[in-house]
Order: sequence, then C-alpha cells, then structure tokens
Amino acid sequence: MTAPNRDQWWRDAVIYQIYPRSWADSNGDGIGDLPGITARLPHLADLGVDAVWLSPFYTSPQKDAGYDVADYRDVDPLFGTLADIDALIARGHELGLRVLVDVVPNHSSDQHPWFQAALAAGPGSRERARYLFRPGKGRFGDKPPNNWPSLFGGPAWDRVTEADGTPGEWYLHLFDSSQPDFDWTNPEVADEMADVLRFWLERGVDGFRVDVAHGLAKKPGLPDLEEGSVEMLSATANAPMWDQPAVHDIYRRWRTLTDSYSPPGRDEDKMMCAEAWVVPATALAKYVRSDEMHQCFNFGILTAPWRASDLREVISDSMDAVAEVGAPPTWVLSNHDVVRHATRLGYPPAEGPERMFGIGADDPQPDVALGLRRARAAVALTLALPGSAYLYQGEELGLPDATRLPDEARQDPTWERSGHVIRGRDGCRVPIPWEADRPAFGFGPSEDTWLPQPPEYADYAVDRQRGVEGSTLELYRTLLRLRKDHRLGRRTLTWLEVGEDVVGFELAAEGDRTVRVLTNLSAEPVILPADAEVLVRTRHEDGPLAPDETVWLRLR
Ligand code: NOJ
Ligand code: CA
Repeated sequence: MTAPNRDQWWRDAVIYQIYPRSWADSNGDGIGDLPGITARLPHLADLGVDAVWLSPFYTSPQKDAGYDVADYRDVDPLFGTLADIDALIARGHELGLRVLVDVVPNHSSDQHPWFQAALAAGPGSRERARYLFRPGKGRFGDKPPNNWPSLFGGPAWDRVTEADGTPGEWYLHLFDSSQPDFDWTNPEVADEMADVLRFWLERGVDGFRVDVAHGLAKKPGLPDLEEGSVEMLSATANAPMWDQPAVHDIYRRWRTLTDSYSPPGRDEDKMMCAEAWVVPATALAKYVRSDEMHQCFNFGILTAPWRASDLREVISDSMDAVAEVGAPPTWVLSNHDVVRHATRLGYPPAEGPERMFGIGADDPQPDVALGLRRARAAVALTLALPGSAYLYQGEELGLPDATRLPDEARQDPTWERSGHVIRGRDGCRVPIPWEADRPAFGFGPSEDTWLPQPPEYADYAVDRQRGVEGSTLELYRTLLRLRKDHRLGRRTLTWLEVGEDVVGFELAAEGDRTVRVLTNLSAEPVILPADAEVLVRTRHEDGPLAPDETVWLRLR
C-alpha cells in the first residue's frame, strides 16, 4: 500500500490538449509535429497550464488522424522520432509542464502486425482471437454477425477475404473499418496493453488519456443492439458495446500499474483520465473509484445548452457524482471531436449542442461575436469550478471553428462514412495561427497546412493578442494565474440564489477571502455588490455585469 499523496497535483490541474497535426509544424510539410510542439512549449508555460495531453503521434496510417495505431511503441515519421518525444517530455518537465499521452486500447489500425497476422492466419487461429472475428449470418454468411453500427456511419462489421480467395469471417470495428476492435477477454490483449503503458511510463510520461474507455468490454455473445442505432460517441443506456461491467477490471489492473510508478511522498502521481461518453453521471463516476482512474472527462458542460438552469444542474450533478467516490470533477468545453465552443455558443442556446458534429458552408452560420462573448464567460465559469479543467488548443485565442471548409478538403472519415450527412470534425482541427503575417499564420515555415486555414484566423493569431489588454489570450492568462493564486480548484462551492438566469456560487477556503463567481445568462445587466473587489471579468467593462459576462469577485 502506498500512503495517499496529500497533494495529488491532478486534483486541480489545468490540462491543455495538443492535437499534434495542428499545433506547430517544424519542417513545412503542412502537418504539425513533435519538434514543432517542443519549440512552442514556452507558450504553454507562459499561459499558466499545469500539463499537456498529446493526442496520438504513434505509427499510424492516419485513417483516423492517428487514433488508428499500427505500433504503440513508436512515433510516426510524420510527427518525428522517439528521440523527439523524449526531447519533448524533457523540455516539458524543464518548463514545469507534465506530459500526458493518449492510449488507444479499444482498437488498433488494420495495419498493426497483429491484425495483419490475423488476416493471414485464418479462422479459429490464435491470431484471430486477439480481435473480434465472427462468422456472418444468413445461409452464405453474407450478413453481419449483429446489427451494431459504426460510430462513423455504416455497419460496424466488415467481411474479409480469406487466403484462398473465398469470402470469409467478419470483424468488428466500432469506428472506421481500418480500426478493428480488440477482444479484451483475451489475456494476450490485456498483457500487451499493460506493457504499452509501462513502455511510456518508463519514458517519463506523467499519465494517460484513455481513448473510448467505456468501449473495451463488449457484452458476452455480442447481442443485437435494441434501438438499432447509436449516436456518435454517446453511450445509449444498456447498449451491449458500451459501459459493460468488465471494463472496470481493466482499469483496476491499470491503476495498480500506474501506482507502482508513482513514488510515495512526492507529488508525482502518474494519472489516467477516461474518455467515456457514459450517462448518467453516477455511472461515469464508477470509472474514477479510488482503485480505478483518477479522472474522467465530464462532457456535461460541453453538451449543455447555454442556459443557467442547465448549467447549474450539470455542474451540481457532476460534482455530486464524483464526490461520492472521492474523485475531482473535470470540466471540458471543447476537444478535437466537437465543434469549438466559441462557435457552438454563437447559435441560439438549444441549437448549439445539435451543431456539435460539424458545420458546413451551406449550414446556418453562427453569430461569431456572440459566440466569443459566451465562450469567454463560459471558460471563466469553468475555470472557477472545483476540480480539474481541460483546454483545447486554440480556445485560449477564442478561435472559432472553420465553418466554411470546402467539403473537398475534409479528411475526417465521418464525412464519407455517413454518406455526406455528418460534416465531421475537421472544423475544429484546423492548424493554429501563431503569427498573423507569416506563411500559414506561423503554423510552419511553408504555406502548407493539411486543412486550409480561414483567412480570418489571422485576427486570432497569438502575436495579435499577446500583451493586448482585453484579448482572449490575456484573459486566459489572468484566469489561470488567479485560479492558481487562490487555489480555486481546491475550494468548496456553495450555490447562491441570484436569479433564474444567473449562475452564481461562492468558493470558500480557510485563511483566504471568499471568491464569488457570477455568470449572467439573462438579457439584462446584473448589479454587482458595491463592496467587492473585481478580480477579473470577461467583457472588460465597468458597471453592472453585462449579458453573457462572468465576473470573479473577492468579498471583503
Ligand atoms: C475518440 C477520439 O477522441 C476520436 O478522435 C477517435 O476518432 C475515436 N475515439 C476513435 O479512436
Ligand atoms: Ca511537419
């Protein structure tokens, strides 16, 4: 037994997500890479975050932008080398940033040697038993083994051609057909993935973001899905592919492993965060019981409409659920899978969540100014909350989604697999603008970018905002500094009754003055208490709290 670490850095950490393809390109091929990231890390130290999480950079044919891994222990040449990731981790640590990496345990790439061996070895082999191969239904076996859909559209099964040229078994892929699901009942799979975790822990990473954490265990027998449909990334209640009880055994084993790399008495816990689209909050909280993961993403705020009652409800439900198991809540507004919140919030409140999975040039366009105003209010609200927060690259610039990308430029497999119905996730993955007047807005040394950057991204470039009073970048820096100074992530929250359309709470801490947070979601200004000191406000004006504005007040 290791003594519980009193500090546990992850309990209130602010973690910044880097999507390696799109953050910084060092060699001008238009794709972001590890040396590019390392060179730009000072931006994050300066911003004031505690950790970075890197989306996958492993060897991969990039059919799902790296979430299709062909070698879990190597770096794709597109992004660099193992020496480059070592350098990145070392530089991060030098700058006081912890480094988390993505682990993709639900499926591999079809180019993974195991899957290639499974294809070659044929039905009934040990090689096939690492994946979910099944005979088809119907007289000729030409119907998929069950009715499960792929989250990217179409059926979740593809049929292989056996070595002798005959149509053969089917394999399960909850995502793209190039992403075969592992069979986690096979101990070989479990051992291999534990070894992959060890590999990265030995290289010095501080933890893992666990992809599709709710999907690894499937219901025995792979029974049909009753409703006949699943929503993108969301766990339909009782669906046989999501949130099965056996999944928790996996994370118990992993926790023992990460604990064995967490030196007692030093604040150096290795931590894990589950990406699990599980509802309700109480089911999700099971992933963060004290012998499982440390954190889980809480997608509640990300999917909630911009309405005070909804926000209050999702905040208190998610805090209550994790409190039951002693884990910190987490807050996420954006990531690489959804339309950026500065854009979602630019639609009428109930419409934003519906627009989550991609916007095209011929869709209704958002009110950009309104979206930014709300995005600033939203982040000030979430960064005040107890627990840990995740930021998605570019949100510190107030970056909107690229909502007018030409469809020919799209690369997310969702667009093709959905038969051109769901635009998909390219709009939030466009390369970041660093310097307004440089090629590719400073993303790299050439004009090339793997997705086209909208011309208006120049206005959001880092160099247009650094040191500029009232800019979104400076707002983030201020919020993060104050959050740290006042240890807001560790405080106790008490709700205030401040009107139907205002979210209000106080944050108390022993030995420090109480901080009051108000977010005005009404159309009317709200009078602020006269005797309180304004720590920060998001519309940068004097007088009452404007609509769509958040303020942090320090009570005297
Ligand atoms: C969730 C990841 O965030 C997403 O980008 C990916 O496509 C799926 N998991 C499949 O790995
Ligand atoms: Ca590059």
